[in-house]
Amino acid sequence: MKGVGIAVLAFCAMGSTVAGQQESKRKLIHRSRVTNAPPVWEMMPAHLPFDPVAALGKLIYEDDNLSINGNQSCSSCHFRKAGFADPENTAAPDLFPVSRGSITTLFGGRNAPTAAYASFSPRLHWDGELFIGGMFWDGRATGQDVSGTSLPGAPTTGDPLADQAKGPFLNPVEMALMDKEQVIDFILGAPYGRLFLNLYGPQIYSGGVLDYGMAYNKIAEAIAAFERSSLVNKFNSKFDRFVREQGGDVGTFGVTVEADGFRRFTGLPAGFRSKVFTRDEAEGLALFNADSEVQLGRGQAAGGMCYLCHLTSRHYPEAYSENNVQPPNPFSSDGSYAPVLTDFSYDNLGIPLNPQIAILAGPQAVDLGLGARIDELLGVLADADPLAEIGKFKVPSLRNVADTPPYGHNGFFPDLLSIVHFYNARDVESFPDPEVPDTVNVDELGNLGLSHDQEMKLVKFMETLSDR
Ligand code: HEC
Ligand code: HEC
Repeated sequence: MKGVGIAVLAFCAMGSTVAGQQESKRKLIHRSRVTNAPPVWEMMPAHLPFDPVAALGKLIYEDDNLSINGNQSCSSCHFRKAGFADPENTAAPDLFPVSRGSITTLFGGRNAPTAAYASFSPRLHWDGELFIGGMFWDGRATGQDVSGTSLPGAPTTGDPLADQAKGPFLNPVEMALMDKEQVIDFILGAPYGRLFLNLYGPQIYSGGVLDYGMAYNKIAEAIAAFERSSLVNKFNSKFDRFVREQGGDVGTFGVTVEADGFRRFTGLPAGFRSKVFTRDEAEGLALFNADSEVQLGRGQAAGGMCYLCHLTSRHYPEAYSENNVQPPNPFSSDGSYAPVLTDFSYDNLGIPLNPQIAILAGPQAVDLGLGARIDELLGVLADADPLAEIGKFKVPSLRNVADTPPYGHNGFFPDLLSIVHFYNARDVESFPDPEVPDTVNVDELGNLGLSHDQEMKLVKFMETLSDR
């Protein structure tokens, strides 16, 4: 997220020492707050109709045969009925925070995020203040290095989603196939092999010889097309109905924005009526949108401050190339999407180690997140400070979040209330030490001043984010 700029700068003017300390810890800007303009960023088309390429992608995505023991597909860990996350994790979040591989004694080191709405993440880039975009908790599928991947109407270019899809087939703790040649041979031999050839034959054969590199890219491209389709990104949650009922934007629902930018919780507007949300759900959204005076050291008013990173304002993706037209958007005429509840930036919430991962996967080194990509980042991004990125993980979309426990990159939190309580009380109650202490965000969370009842309302609000 962009920092909590306006409010904190305002304290500095008021001479608050707390604010002074906060300011020295991080760069503080928040563009969408300054201008009230929605964030706009370069991105891949996020939403495409379900076409033959997406249909092929779905068949590949669901094919168990594409794993060493014939028992695992993408869908095994990103299952529709589990919010496109891992059903073994969601069923027993305490015991299984991380995913089991095709070799069933092997486990990965991170919690499987939802594959839905991932398509909205732009290519990993440095926007002058923050890293934005990419796939995986640490953004390592940057979208910078997929050659030969092209989307309909787009020039050949990198795509983080297709980039990501090339990983799991060959990851030893996931589908564990030998090499890309094996993946391609299995796909050519599958019942849908003919569909693959019909769609891509001329592009993957040159002079009668199969170009395995190109074929692998096409597989990734087809999977990405499925993940961009309306089958995966449904936008049909209770929240979406509420957004429509309220006229299309709930970015400042339940708050007033004061002169210094502080968003004060006002709760339900006078005469509030909704056929969609209960009063608790609506108040939960208002808290989600509200700043906290307690957190900012200037008074008693509580608020969740969640909107800072999990955006609730409309989302305007920008076409990523000059000649690429925005894909048809079934949801609005002005090209906007309902909120995806993330800004795709990175942060360190101070989440403790999850000891359960060591039990399943063996001793773990400290997970440095985005910071572990340091070499790549240094090469590409001159004015970034890579040390500042250690321990940071991508802000996830909260769509379908109630269906995808556990929570956090290491699945430390088994349910929504426990992570909300952590945001609220991290700095005033005792929690185990953060996995990476140096870069913990102390400005925007940790002491929100929420009551238990308000925590519950935030949970109730998040439960409205599940698609049908
Ligand atoms: C064994 C379980 C497993 C399998 C199989 C698997 N994934 Fe994942 N997936 C994960 C985990 C765990 C992560 C997070 C890893 C990380 O961040 O380092 C992940 C991350 C992702 C992400 C990134 C989401 C985001 O918001 O950054 C996408 C998209 C995704 N997987 C799609 C797929 C596709 C497509 C396949 C099949 C080609 C697949 N996965 C196979 C477990 C799995
Ligand atoms: C400073 C940015 C920031 C703010 C403010 C913020 N979040 Fe988050 N949120 C994140 C990041 C980053 C993660 C992932 C952290 C990790 O796994 O290490 C996350 C993860 C989550 C998750 C877990 C999702 C999953 O699929 O694992 C939930 C739930 C969540 N946030 C809800 C909230 C709520 C509710 C609030 C307000 C009380 C809030 N967040 C405020 C950045 C933020």
